[in-house]
Amino acid sequence: MFSIGLIFCALIDLVFSYTHLKQSCINTDCSATRVSIFNPPINLWDSIVIGELNSFLTDLNEQNSTKVVVFASDNPEFFGSAIDLNLFTPAASSYVNATHVLEQYYANLDLLLSTPVIFIAEVNGRTFGAGDEHVVRMDMRFAGPQAQFGAPEAAVGLIHVGGMQQLVRLIGPGSAAEYMMSAAQVDSVEAARIGWVNSAFENTTGMRNHVDRLASRIALFQSDTLKATKASIAEQAASQQIFSRDLQRFNSLAATPFVQDKIRQILTASNNQSELWELNNNDNIVKYLY
Ligand SMILES: *[C@@H]1O[C@H](CO)[C@@H](O)[C@H](O)[C@H]1NC(C)=O
Ligand SMILES: *[C@@H]1O[C@H](CO)[C@@H](O)[C@H](O)[C@H]1NC(C)=O
Ligand SMILES: *[C@@H]1O[C@H](CO)[C@@H](O)[C@H](O)[C@H]1NC(C)=O
Ligand SMILES: *[C@@H]1O[C@H](CO)[C@@H](O)[C@H](O)[C@H]1NC(C)=O
Repeated sequence: MFSIGLIFCALIDLVFSYTHLKQSCINTDCSATRVSIFNPPINLWDSIVIGELNSFLTDLNEQNSTKVVVFASDNPEFFGSAIDLNLFTPAASSYVNATHVLEQYYANLDLLLSTPVIFIAEVNGRTFGAGDEHVVRMDMRFAGPQAQFGAPEAAVGLIHVGGMQQLVRLIGPGSAAEYMMSAAQVDSVEAARIGWVNSAFENTTGMRNHVDRLASRIALFQSDTLKATKASIAEQAASQQIFSRDLQRFNSLAATPFVQDKIRQILTASNNQSELWELNNNDNIVKYLY
């Protein structure tokens, strides 16, 4: 039985043909699986990560064998960074269709809520901006000692478009206002205290053991039950109309000269999103631009 599982896992590894996502099985039939975001050095949420996530999440809707997906990172400093700011500059048009990439980006956020698979975020390292928008739309979140959560958007002149509504539900309007309006960086202990994550672990081994046990246990149960439970919880999520209004708020701000200027300043000051800058992205924007 065990060796059949291993052969099955090996086959899945062969067909998992992404460059920026790495896959490994958690249980023997691989109905619980771990997908690590791999875009060194900072796991920048760029057009390749966005495109690969889009194919992966879309494919998950066409199958019944995967029940639980744990999103993780092998980089101890970063789970996921902010979205590649170059996508919002005129120069992007020379190498990418930014409109298409952003459409995929928002589709991915929708897919995390609507796909009938249970998503668990296993977060060690920073997850600011885009990374956080994805994490708060997963079904549950766990944090390691290096984890930091937050959104730089207020300091860029924007709103945390895909994360606001979920965050308000997770931590309440008062805390959401405090952390979003100040572009705060929130550590794992604080995040667990207020409900941004389910719990925080003092080391990554403890977190991984817990997540593996949890994912394997959930995967014992029948798909239809898991799907119905996820659908029921999703009844409390913000509607598509609310998301559309947040998108309008984001887009009208993003089009202003103020925001365009801030994006240019950040790309210059950060030396094009360097690792050193991104380690304290939100605090650095506040420190160097205000
Ligand atoms: C997955 O299960 C559903 C419901 O049981 C079924 O309608 C669908 O055809 C299955 N999809 C695949 C790809 O097996
Ligand atoms: C860019 O993507 C958008 C949205 O998918 C599409 O409508 C448009 O035709 C694309 N532009 C080019 C130049 O391919
Ligand atoms: C890791 O944390 C667990 C509790 O979550 C603890 O039992 C264990 O001793 C810790 N391991 C190390 C190496 O610190
Ligand atoms: C900035 O970094 C991005 C992402 O790594 C890269 O695609 C782009 O070519 C860089 N731009 C410049 C001007 O170095």
